[in-house]
Amino acid sequence: MNKVTVIGAGNVGATVANVLAHKDFIKEIVLVDIKAEMAQGKALDSWQQAPVDYYSTRLVGTDDYALTQDSDVVVITAGLPRKPGMSRDDLISTNAGIVNSVTSSVLKYSKNPIVIVVSNPLDVMTYAAYKVSGLDSSRVFGMAGILDTARYRAFLAEAIQVSPKDIQAILMGGHGDSMVPLPRFTTVSGIPVSQFIDEDSLNKIVERTKYGGGELVKLMGTSAWYAPGAAAAQMVEAILKDEQRIFPCCALLNGEYGLDNVFVGVPVKLGRNGIEKIIELDLNESETALLNQSAEEVTAMMKVYDSL
Ligand code: NAI
Ligand code: 2OP
Repeated sequence: MNKVTVIGAGNVGATVANVLAHKDFIKEIVLVDIKAEMAQGKALDSWQQAPVDYYSTRLVGTDDYALTQDSDVVVITAGLPRKPGMSRDDLISTNAGIVNSVTSSVLKYSKNPIVIVVSNPLDVMTYAAYKVSGLDSSRVFGMAGILDTARYRAFLAEAIQVSPKDIQAILMGGHGDSMVPLPRFTTVSGIPVSQFIDEDSLNKIVERTKYGGGELVKLMGTSAWYAPGAAAAQMVEAILKDEQRIFPCCALLNGEYGLDNVFVGVPVKLGRNGIEKIIELDLNESETALLNQSAEEVTAMMKVYDSL
């Protein structure tokens, strides 16, 4: 049986733990936060849900990293969320300090875990966890693409009036306004999406997706948690069940797509070893240009992190 640590017991972290507990295949989930009592309270609340919703996953809340010993997967959600008017990049210096410190603390107790980063700015915080952990890049990656794609799929499902279950899509690039939704690779149960929607309406959905996180920040005064939490939990499940699922994740590129040394969203195959394979799509000229532009923006922020 598996052990998972979720660092940060705020909106996203508590949701990841709760969604994972409902999947009922993990022995223990440790929820870590500097606010120890809040982590304890949320873990206890989720544990008390177990008899009602029928799961056996034990949940523990703490600020003591010793309890995270021998975790198979670590999900990092610690850090500040956006407030209205802020970009994800505005969080870099505060969240870099937090992600650096939680990564080195958790690595003292788990030798070779798989680390999924959620904290923003996502691509740069994934780079931070990779550098501090010293783990192989197949074991340190970020959650953003599943969420951004889910937003795109949900908007499309609403527009063309089909179940969101039947929309398959892929989206690449950084987790920011320069992300690259790919209509050419979007289908409704295998049928090209262009058969269901005109180009203008599809472009509007692409634009809404790019600012999908900001739309929620404006509505709620803080960033989203249900879909982000479920997306990170889906990655943990794919890894621990060795499902070999293909998802867009933030991964270190070393020559793929002609890009080097940059963490950016690309399709990957997830299994028990983390990233089992980076999938290279045959992008056309304009898709490549958008991906390059997004990667350039991430590279600039990675340099900001290096200079901190
Ligand atoms: P939140 O404020 O509800 O929770 C963050 C938690 O981190 C708090 O409980 C805080 O006490 C804890 N924390 C801060 N410093 C810590 C430390 N040194 N050690 C342990 N815990 C610490 O924020 P929320 O909404 O849960 O968001 C968390 C992060 O995830 C933010 O950076 C947010 O921008 C990001 N996010 C990323 C998404 C993505 O797609 N990658 C989607 C949604 C949020
Ligand atoms: C989101 O996209 C803020 O990154 C967070 O909801």
